[in-house]
Amino acid sequence: MFGKKKSRPQIDQDQLELIEYAQKRIKQKKYLYAHFVIFLIGAVFLIIANTVLGIGKDFTILGKEWFLFAILIWLFFLIYHVFRVFVTHKFMGKSWEKKQLDKLVAKQQIRIDKLKAGFVKEEKLLAQSEVYNNINPANQDLNTKNTLIGLTIIVAAAENDAIGKGNKLIWHLSDDLKRFKSLTNGHHIIMGRKTFESFPKPLPNRTHIVITRQPNYKAPNGVIIVNSLEDAIDAARSDNQPFIIGGGEIYKQALAVANKIELTRVHDNFEADTFFPKIDSHIWKEVANTFHNKDENHDYEFSFITYLKKDA
Ligand SMILES: NC(=O)c1ccc[n+]([C@@H]2O[C@H](COP(=O)([O-])OP(=O)(O)OC[C@H]3O[C@@H](n4cnc5c(N)ncnc54)[C@H](OP(=O)(O)O)[C@@H]3O)[C@@H](O)[C@H]2O)c1
Repeated sequence: MFGKKKSRPQIDQDQLELIEYAQKRIKQKKYLYAHFVIFLIGAVFLIIANTVLGIGKDFTILGKEWFLFAILIWLFFLIYHVFRVFVTHKFMGKSWEKKQLDKLVAKQQIRIDKLKAGFVKEEKLLAQSEVYNNINPANQDLNTKNTLIGLTIIVAAAENDAIGKGNKLIWHLSDDLKRFKSLTNGHHIIMGRKTFESFPKPLPNRTHIVITRQPNYKAPNGVIIVNSLEDAIDAARSDNQPFIIGGGEIYKQALAVANKIELTRVHDNFEADTFFPKIDSHIWKEVANTFHNKDENHDYEFSFITYLKKDA
């Protein structure tokens, strides 16, 4: 029932290609041979037609019989045919093209590898450079571990630095929300677990990174959970402009590593349970300030202020 199967000779792809190539070459040579024979017969026929049968007897070119030129032109085509079979097809066929291509690809690969090696070297130099490490002397660990990123704190704080109460924002300023949306759009936003839980749902078009000490904290799909600020910055490494969006605990830790603050200063004092740390003018330099008046959409005066870390 389970008799032995007849073994069939197996031909691999390379052998098949060789056989096809040999068949093709034989065909090319056969055609050339046929061409040669036809040429010989044709030449004899032309000579007979002119000299014996008298066809075009009076027609000469430069004093020579026309059949001489006809044979010469034909001979030229025959030589061209020989050249194609024995030179072009033999030495510049598909395999020759492939070899040339392989050579070019190999050359390009070497160039790409050299460029890559150059980039890696530059990156290492940047990471090790003193200037880079001096950006945040208070947090050498984060700096050496991360590439050069523009880490920005974005916050709205009252005159008394109040930022929240009962895990909620204290005010509603529509232009401030618009600014927050446009600045953070498409970026990584890093936040503490409490701030994350103050949102009804994750914000669209932003990658959320939530910091918690809880080992099994569950969050909706797409939200990245980490256990330290350092890991949060690491998770945002692909982004050249991640944002720290609060709250109070995270701002306190992030001030040491951030190099920019986008502050909305609300010009009033509020009762609160969460505060933003004092912005030290020895460390931070104000580089932009735009004042907004109260109006029907805004119950308070406020200013958009940008700070950059000195020496950053
Ligand atoms: N005005 C604004 O611009 C603004 C912006 C954002 C938030 N807020 C307000 O700020 C308030 C929330 O701030 P918050 O200070 O109470 O909380 P938070 O900073 O948002 O979150 C604190 C939580 O983060 C986790 N955490 C903090 N440091 C950590 C670390 N080093 N390693 C691991 N996990 C860490 C802990 O989570 P676990 O407890 O899970 O371990 C901690 O309980 C709310 O009122 C909110 O409305 C205001």
